[in-house]
Amino acid sequence: MAVDTARDESAKRLWNDAYVNGAENLWGDPPVPHAEKAAHLFASTRAFTVLDLPCGDGRNLPALAAGAPVLIGGDPSANARSVARRVLERHALDTRSVLLELDAYATGIPAGIIDGIFCWDLLGHLTDPGRALVELYRILRPGGRLVANMWTMRDCQVADPNIREIAPKEYIDHFDFYCRFYDRDDLDTLLAAVDMTAETVELAHWTEPPHTGYRDYVHDHESWVFTIRKAS
Ligand SMILES: C[S@@+](CC[C@H](N)C(=O)[O-])C[C@H]1O[C@@H](n2cnc3c(N)ncnc32)[C@H](O)[C@@H]1O
Repeated sequence: MAVDTARDESAKRLWNDAYVNGAENLWGDPPVPHAEKAAHLFASTRAFTVLDLPCGDGRNLPALAAGAPVLIGGDPSANARSVARRVLERHALDTRSVLLELDAYATGIPAGIIDGIFCWDLLGHLTDPGRALVELYRILRPGGRLVANMWTMRDCQVADPNIREIAPKEYIDHFDFYCRFYDRDDLDTLLAAVDMTAETVELAHWTEPPHTGYRDYVHDHESWVFTIRKAS
């Protein structure tokens, strides 16, 4: 899709409403498996600060907390952050964490100060993921890592009866969210366009429980999970 700033902006409002519609916890409690893996990677680089952007309602925050002494959860949605706050409190993480209103296109965070970034289930929703990648790379410290994912065409969302195709590999889902799915070549092309090379790329599968009010059935995801290391 051509870059569509208005669509990305209205998606932020839709997300905020989705968290209200989903009541307490839209995404369910279990972290995605790669949150724990990312935490190990961040810890192995002696990370001090890890950023989960977007953190949504916080399902991945407790797993990511193993990655660094200081945890930042960022999301544009106030409703999501209020649920995430309770997750942090429940896990006694509130004294070493902060939740911020952040947009991945323009975080306002000074350059080079974040040691590890986990960016899960966002880039495929953005009409200009390259711009978000450039911003995340900017705030990463030299030697720090970004871990992110991009859904493939075998992700469960493509088979959802209520999703509609608008172009090859591009869809609008039942909540009116834009979704772009990536073959491996598409991922490489995207990264090359922003002058980045993945340090690792892995094809990941995982199963999620129903998200009440959003996706009411058990479903299987497939994504490319990739790591970017900021040059020292
Ligand atoms: C599919 S959810 C994923 C949340 C979380 N990463 C997870 O795995 O549970 C997408 C999230 O992206 C957030 N979001 C939407 N637009 C954004 C933007 N421009 N920058 C950062 N986050 C955004 C939404 O508020 C929502 O919480």
